[in-house]
Amino acid sequence: MLLYPRLVFSFFLVLSVNFPIIAQGGRIPVRAENAMVSSSHYLASEAGRDIMARGGSAVDASVTTAFVLAVTLPSAGNIGGGGFLVYQSANGESTTFNFREKAPLAATKTMYLDEEGKIKDNSNHEGILAVGVPGTVAGLYKAHQKYGKLKWADLVQPAIEIAEKGFPISPEIEGFSTWLLQNKEVYPSTARIFLKDEQTALRSGDTLVQQDLAETLKRIRDKGSDGFYKGKTAGLLTDFMKAEGGIITREDLRNYEAQELDPIKGSYRGYEIISMPPPSSGGTVLIEMLNILEGFDLSKKGHNSAESLHLLTEAMRRAYADRALFLGDPDFNEAMPLEKLTSKEYAADLRQSIEPHRASVSDSANFSEAHLIYESPQTTHFSIVDPEGNAVSLTYTLEQSYGSKIVVEGAGFLLNNEMGDFNPIPGHTDTRGLIGTEPNQIEPEKRMLSSMSPTIVAKEGRPVMIIGSPGGRTIINTVLQVIVNVIDYNLNIAEAIESPRIHHQWLPDVTRFEDWGFSPDTKRIYQEMGHEIELRSVQGQAMGIYIDKESGMIFGAADSRSYDGKAAGY
Ligand code: DON
Repeated sequence: MLLYPRLVFSFFLVLSVNFPIIAQGGRIPVRAENAMVSSSHYLASEAGRDIMARGGSAVDASVTTAFVLAVTLPSAGNIGGGGFLVYQSANGESTTFNFREKAPLAATKTMYLDEEGKIKDNSNHEGILAVGVPGTVAGLYKAHQKYGKLKWADLVQPAIEIAEKGFPISPEIEGFSTWLLQNKEVYPSTARIFLKDEQTALRSGDTLVQQDLAETLKRIRDKGSDGFYKGKTAGLLTDFMKAEGGIITREDLRNYEAQELDPIKGSYRGYEIISMPPPSSGGTVLIEMLNILEGFDLSKKGHNSAESLHLLTEAMRRAYADRALFLGDPDFNEAMPLEKLTSKEYAADLRQSIEPHRASVSDSANFSEAHLIYESPQTTHFSIVDPEGNAVSLTYTLEQSYGSKIVVEGAGFLLNNEMGDFNPIPGHTDTRGLIGTEPNQIEPEKRMLSSMSPTIVAKEGRPVMIIGSPGGRTIINTVLQVIVNVIDYNLNIAEAIESPRIHHQWLPDVTRFEDWGFSPDTKRIYQEMGHEIELRSVQGQAMGIYIDKESGMIFGAADSRSYDGKAAGY
């Protein structure tokens, strides 16, 4: 099932008669003097901002924002999934938290394959076996233990109140509810939450109350991480797994630990790039692409001109090939050449192979008829800066929209389908972009490779830009283009986010263009260089912040590709 969220792509406030859409994207950023949250839901941004107004740190605000999103943005906000947090303090200290899901102990390399070696019934993406051991609560808790100022319970409370009181839903949840009505027999525990009654789907503007989720959040509020991984919540989850034929056990939950990792770092035209290391491929691939592009005078070539798009594509092609060949969970891949991949020398070598007006070929002619697998935009990113200038860039996800679409009976939260991010068929790389390389094959307790790219751009140690996006493998390219739009083309953060984007991922050898915003002549010149184009409606939902070094003014922008996104500051 694919939910194609309707594109809200207006430079004006989108109004509707029967519900309050708050989508706020546009070319003019929100300004604030003290602090800012930019997220995919206005209630989450406002709750995070209010925590900082009460003295909370950027990490405190990210705990609140993340829990509120778990209530108001059930397609991606979560406690049943995982993600990454990148942190940089005002004085240059940086770190990351890895709370990516893990394969259960009972997982095997070929667990999704039939006797012929083919994937059985899309089971790596659909159904209870697609669920990885969730990491979100452990990650938020760990980050709070190190950088929190306010009490954990006070940070979880706003989400509980919204879950109990309810909130008006957007067309995106209406779309899910409408689909669910047709599929309620397959997803009965989900139907009990996301339908109005057995015969009726929720409509935009209806109030969604989530009492079971509120009770789970109360256990997390009162017991911290143990409120999820032990006790009643763990019992509900593992009983449900047993009843449904799943493999996640109490031991899997007890063993789950979030990790604090050193960020991966690079530089671009005098700015420092601080991003997520493996098990996300995001930071590594982003830095590799920026290093390649640094050798070209992009600003002279013009924003989104065919020539600049060609150079972007060639950088993408090369870095995504390395992603597939080398990257996976570092706990299972000791020899990943991260230093080389992110070095200026390696980028200079790769740059030599780029012809100024001629597309390279990704691989053998076998791949020429490829089409891109749809990457739903449903993951979610938020960016935060607090009054001291400390920054958080956090992306987390259930994988596809609403993850596995399975709610844990009695616990009220959706489970991820993140196991689909492993390479499912060992050794098999094909025309649709399916990768079979070794570093990201399934092993018990391994984390699946991600593309999530929460990133902070700094100057002389101080955060100046906080950026990230959903969109599966497109994420890294979305983040790349926002950064280039600000640094090379001098766009403000809102313009940089609104600009149309492209995506190339090595295989298949085709470039996806957003269908709005590129001129026919640009596309023609680009194609004449030998590139193949495919049109898609949207790429990502970037949420960003820019801090002007001179004035200290903070600019926030929520991508108008989201329904309910908002930058909220004070
Ligand atoms: O971790 C990842 O890269 C993906 N699971 C993120 C998923 C996403 O952005 C939604 N679209 N596929």
